[in-house]
Amino acid sequence: MQGKRAVRLLPWPVTLIGAYHEGKHNVMTASWVSQVSFRPPLVMVSIAPERHTYGLIQKSGEFVVSILTADQAEVAQFCGSRSGRDVDKISALGLKTRSGQAVKVPVLEDCLANIECRVVATHPAGDHVLFVGEVVGGSAIRPDAPPLLMLDWKPGKFSPIGSG
Ligand SMILES: Cc1cc2nc3c(=O)[nH]c(=O)nc-3n(C[C@H](O)[C@H](O)[C@H](O)COP(=O)(O)O)c2cc1C
Repeated sequence: MQGKRAVRLLPWPVTLIGAYHEGKHNVMTASWVSQVSFRPPLVMVSIAPERHTYGLIQKSGEFVVSILTADQAEVAQFCGSRSGRDVDKISALGLKTRSGQAVKVPVLEDCLANIECRVVATHPAGDHVLFVGEVVGGSAIRPDAPPLLMLDWKPGKFSPIGSG
């Protein structure tokens, strides 16, 4: 089906979704992430119910979107292929975290930016569920670093227009 081929050519950001409940912190890679409103600022993430992260967000009502930089492809690969049910991904990778400003979910010390969200709506979407979060805090850590992107399921780097 041509539509399936076409949809693979939609560029994706690569982020880590952080979630925390009852002392357990987990991160998973997610690309189906987008801002969906200015006023109020809303961000959505599409998460399959079988992910460990799904249960943590459902119970806590909070998540953090950490935008990854182009040099973090290995972090994305690891956090997108292992489950927090089986491995503590944060310790395994030695990711440094600190407290969030407005949510209990810790944020990453090394990424492009952390967006702190409180869930305001959930919508089923086929085999995934959309969590819509209001942006309640955030930090721009390395705003000038190139983001990690995906196109046609291959990781790559953003080149701004005019950068040669
Ligand atoms: C580049 C990339 C993007 C991904 N995007 C999503 C996504 O948007 N939604 C989702 O449910 N899973 C996505 N995944 C898969 C999850 O990251 C993966 O199943 C992960 O192991 C779930 O971890 P958890 O069980 O600790 O929550 C993606 C994986 C990769 C490698």
